[in-house]
Amino acid sequence: MKTQNTYYGTVMIGEPDELFGKAVELAEEHRTRNEIPKPSWAMAGGSTPKAFFKYCVANDAIPKYFIEHGTWFTSDERMVPTNNEESNFGNLDRLLLKHYDIDEYDKYPWPTDMNPLEAAHVFNDLWNKRRGPAECFDICFLGVGDDCHTASLFPHSPLIRQPVNANFASVEVPTKGYRLTVTPHGLSRCGIIVVMAMGKEKAVPLVSIFESIIQPDQRPAQLLSHYKDKVYWLLDTEAAGKLN
Ligand code: 6PG
Repeated sequence: MKTQNTYYGTVMIGEPDELFGKAVELAEEHRTRNEIPKPSWAMAGGSTPKAFFKYCVANDAIPKYFIEHGTWFTSDERMVPTNNEESNFGNLDRLLLKHYDIDEYDKYPWPTDMNPLEAAHVFNDLWNKRRGPAECFDICFLGVGDDCHTASLFPHSPLIRQPVNANFASVEVPTKGYRLTVTPHGLSRCGIIVVMAMGKEKAVPLVSIFESIIQPDQRPAQLLSHYKDKVYWLLDTEAAGKLN
């Protein structure tokens, strides 16, 4: 695997399975180094995490400590119930957590059965009672969209233009409806951030993120430069194919 330090964090380039293995290793290293008793792990949405979950199940890759003591989240969510196939938490649960028989008490789906503003408020409140507002996810996985969005921070998002202090927020995304998401301030309080991007459709957005001028309002994933010491980009050779 090729590794390079960049302005946006540590970039690792390899084949999907070795990157998935690396993703688990980064989570486990962070947990052991910081002796986190009940580590919170937020998975991303989209197609890449689905392949990651399948890898984890096929290789029994999730470390025992996380199975016994982990708490499970997603870094963003659509306003659908968990039984909907668009639900990020629903997919995490169906494809990974159920396989490991994770206790329901350790699962934290976003409360999508209320209005978005209230849902974000309730989720912040729940988090703040358990961990406090000064912390966010111990391990936060993210993806990158074709338009350079990450989590549900889309280009020209009000959450980038007028950042809120809370870790989590609701936001209306043009043409997509409301989403719930970790905010830029939330990202700043995460322990480590692991961005996975795979496949040739990611090649152009990644060049735009890594090689254009910094304009997070247009390319939200560039926000990650602020936290580069704790950001790891896991890119397969197709996704990294056009990077200098
Ligand atoms: C979601 C996430 C989004 C996702 C990227 C990458 O879809 O729920 O908001 O940020 O992680 O769009 O998705 P892929 O893995 O499908 O490329």
